Amino acid sequence: MKEDIRRLLEEYGEEILESEEFQKAYQQKHHKIMTVADHSLGVAIISLKICRLLEKLHIDIHERELIISALCHDLGILGRDEKYKNNLECCNQHPRDSIDIVRSLTGEENRRVEDSIRRHMWPLTLHPPKYREGFILTAADKISSAMERMGKSPAAGVSYKKKKRPVKTPERKLPLPGGGNPSEKE
Ligand SMILES: [Fe+2]
Ligand SMILES: [Fe+2]
Repeated sequence: MKEDIRRLLEEYGEEILESEEFQKAYQQKHHKIMTVADHSLGVAIISLKICRLLEKLHIDIHERELIISALCHDLGILGRDEKYKNNLECCNQHPRDSIDIVRSLTGEENRRVEDSIRRHMWPLTLHPPKYREGFILTAADKISSAMERMGKSPAAGVSYKKKKRPVKTPERKLPLPGGGNPSEKE
């Protein structure tokens, strides 16, 4: 992955990548192969690559909003087996649940981000996205999903999964030969 893409992901997506929700996304499978987190990173990376192509055509894109939308578009799907009765409900409801999560993570209500997330399932949803960022997100989502189904991850080698810290067990002090407490030695 090119360095400028990684830098943008970390600059605009830090609060999301570090969040408990995104870390949980590493625990749930998506499209049977990847995790929700890997898929979301893949969508963000492809979105930025599309941005680079559009730049050459002098088409400006709000990169911050696009990255936030991509990283959060499917976070609402976490816990799907407990939350949704069936795939149809999941398909309709998870974008709305993702909007609740993006609001709580960023502390803002951003119409560009929310519209992009709300309509990312288009054309399954009736209305297309209102903004360019939304069209890029829907395209990147489909490209990433297709690649994942072919066993190729656009986010291969990119991970923000936090390592679990090893639990330190306190050192036991052995009794001194002949009795006595080690702390009384000196
Ligand atoms: Fe989705
Ligand atoms: Fe997706």
